[in-house]
Amino acid sequence: MTKPRLYSGMQPSADSLQIGNYIGALLQWRDLQNSYDAYFSVVDLHALTVAQNPAELREKTRRTAAQYIAAGIEPSQSTLYVQSHVRAHAELAWILSTITGFGEAGRMTQFKDKSARYGADATSVGLFTYPVLMAADILLYQTDVVPVGDDQKQHVELTRDLAERFNSRFGETFVVPRPVIQKDTARIYDLQNPTSKMSKSAESDAGVLWMLDDPAKSAKKIMRAVTDNEGTVRFDRENKPGVSNLLTIYAALTGRQIGSIEDEYAGRGYGDFKKGLAEAVVNEFEPVRARALELLDDPAELDRILAANAERADAVADTTLGAVYDRVGL
Ligand code: ADP
Ligand code: NA
Repeated sequence: MTKPRLYSGMQPSADSLQIGNYIGALLQWRDLQNSYDAYFSVVDLHALTVAQNPAELREKTRRTAAQYIAAGIEPSQSTLYVQSHVRAHAELAWILSTITGFGEAGRMTQFKDKSARYGADATSVGLFTYPVLMAADILLYQTDVVPVGDDQKQHVELTRDLAERFNSRFGETFVVPRPVIQKDTARIYDLQNPTSKMSKSAESDAGVLWMLDDPAKSAKKIMRAVTDNEGTVRFDRENKPGVSNLLTIYAALTGRQIGSIEDEYAGRGYGDFKKGLAEAVVNEFEPVRARALELLDDPAELDRILAANAERADAVADTTLGAVYDRVGL
């Protein structure tokens, strides 16, 4: 029996991924790749929706791919590629844009939030059509499941609508994918501001743990993480967001239950707890970072891996695009 297909991706929007990307996405992808025929993309075309420095974008794209591999995505098992290496993404996005309602696209809350933040002149048409490109990403591979954070759920709903609309207008062409929403327990918050999500595009990185940082630097950030005055290591998202966030990270990286970590630190202060967590972070990221740096040290090998994977992706994408051209009369 063939495995169901899975598609997911991340924008190359920083030099390093952050620990939320690792826990909320990469660790789950690493497990899922065993039960799915998985496609993992570095979505550089999406990154262009905000102004980029060309040389930096190219470098961030390679670094993001290296971190996927370092985190355990197997490029011989999963298809791990750079979006722009497969031309069909942009081509299918154009065709899907012609069956997307202007009002329908205008209802995307992420666009409304971002465009309100940037202002009309700094908001590109590309940012508006971003969800249509995302639909193309997913539909090109006849994807069954799309693991996403809940901020992307609306975009996957749009993808489903477009697939169904195309199928009913032009004949069965696309698999209609379903979203798999990331577990709440996989959501990591900023160490300095533990009610907002840790993000690689945060304004200040004082509360961000970078996958490629020197682990000693991450340890320092953990020691300075915001907690509370209670002094008890106890999970309570509402009243103790800082400590709860640290517990979530601790549990995710060690595979332990939160309750067992609470028990271990019962009657001890936050200092000990933070030291324990810092050690877990260093243990986890030292090898990941070393592997990523090794890959980045050998650009020819990394490029060879990405080219071979893009070729595999291209073959699948091209078959879908050919069917689409045929159906619509091109
Ligand atoms: P960022 O905010 O760091 O730029 P993205 O929006 O590009 O992250 O998301 C990339 C992937 O990482 C998505 O699957 C998203 O759900 C996951 N992710 C991002 N930040 C976090 C977080 N703080 N906690 C858990 N998962 C996260
Ligand atoms: Na982002």
